[in-house]
Amino acid sequence: MASRSEPTPLALILAERMRSHGPITFAEYMEACLYHPVHGYYTKAEQEPRRDYFTSVDASPLFARLLARQFQEMWCAVGRPDAFWLVEAGAGTGQLAKQILDFAAEAWPDFYEALRFLAVERSAARRTLQSKWMGTHIARGKFASQEELRNEITRGCIFSNELIDAMPVHRVVREGNELREMYVGLGKNGLCDEIGRLSSNALDEYISEQQIALLDEQQAEVNLAACRWIEEAGKKLKRGFVLTIDYGHEAKELYDERHMKGTLLAYERHRAGEDWFRAPGKQDLTAHVNFSALDLYGRRCGLVRAGFTSQSNFLLALARHGNFADLQSDEMSEAEQTQRRLLFKTLINPEGMGETFQVLVQHKGIEPVNLAGLQPL
Ligand SMILES: C[S@@+](CC[C@H](N)C(=O)[O-])C[C@H]1O[C@@H](n2cnc3c(N)ncnc32)[C@H](O)[C@@H]1O
Repeated sequence: MASRSEPTPLALILAERMRSHGPITFAEYMEACLYHPVHGYYTKAEQEPRRDYFTSVDASPLFARLLARQFQEMWCAVGRPDAFWLVEAGAGTGQLAKQILDFAAEAWPDFYEALRFLAVERSAARRTLQSKWMGTHIARGKFASQEELRNEITRGCIFSNELIDAMPVHRVVREGNELREMYVGLGKNGLCDEIGRLSSNALDEYISEQQIALLDEQQAEVNLAACRWIEEAGKKLKRGFVLTIDYGHEAKELYDERHMKGTLLAYERHRAGEDWFRAPGKQDLTAHVNFSALDLYGRRCGLVRAGFTSQSNFLLALARHGNFADLQSDEMSEAEQTQRRLLFKTLINPEGMGETFQVLVQHKGIEPVNLAGLQPL
């Protein structure tokens, strides 16, 4: 695949590096595209208004209200401690954090009192944007942000929305009986795929441990960063939950014959494409999440699967748990109620976000609980 337009500054840097050191893994390429200190899609200084993707957070504040209901229930499940850490990993510009804290302050003053919200975001540019909106919550000692997870989370919930799909992935391909890696090299027309030996035994282990049976010539992504991340979260959490929302599947489905070319996509101006070498640093790159891997690697650090369901099921169950008060109440006008219902439909629509997005909840150090969001409808 060649880069057809004027090369971006990052494309030039990467080409130079490849001329002197040879091809790089796709994970190194994706890491540079998204997180290069100067030219990375998420790290570069100009963050607004450029947006090429749309998340549930943008769709509606209802998403935050329903999540807040789940967190409040989690706080009760760990015995209503005086300090409950809500750690949002990949918090972006802090929009969801603000909505959750605003709603908690209004709905449950005792829960808000216990809350310590920590936004973990690796992009410094995005952390700066967070501090702009969070004034009141910062002043009340409720909100802080940092680049990495804190060392210990005694009681709380580590959660994320569309974090794992933004982590750098390796690409592999089965050739006959052999598993090979797809590197990024420099061809006559620019960046291109280059197939070689596996760069790490961890790739082979990942495939064999999960008994992933790729077909001949099938390509697949392997997100080793996600495995490291869930292990770290599991080690640092002492009592509580990890809640992950993202699009993806369990391994059996993710690596089946419907995904012969994997699930990698490049997004630019809300349009998805497969030309991920076109504009390094200017396109968002994502790959579907393997939820079985989060389960497997999480178990090694004491995380027990509490449940796995679609976003649609999760949000509907939470709306029902709250007697649909977030969708309709006496204080809302008819027009407001209609608007809320329409936004809710966007979040749960099976053709859209509702069924593509999945919710995995893991717990650690507590007795199993029947969380409202995981109840069957
Ligand atoms: C697709 S955006 C989602 C932002 C937000 N959660 C939302 O739903 O709108 C992914 C975010 O995760 C951040 N990120 C990626 N890897 C991270 C990591 N290991 N630790 C913290 N943040 C990370 C990126 O910088 C980016 O802001």
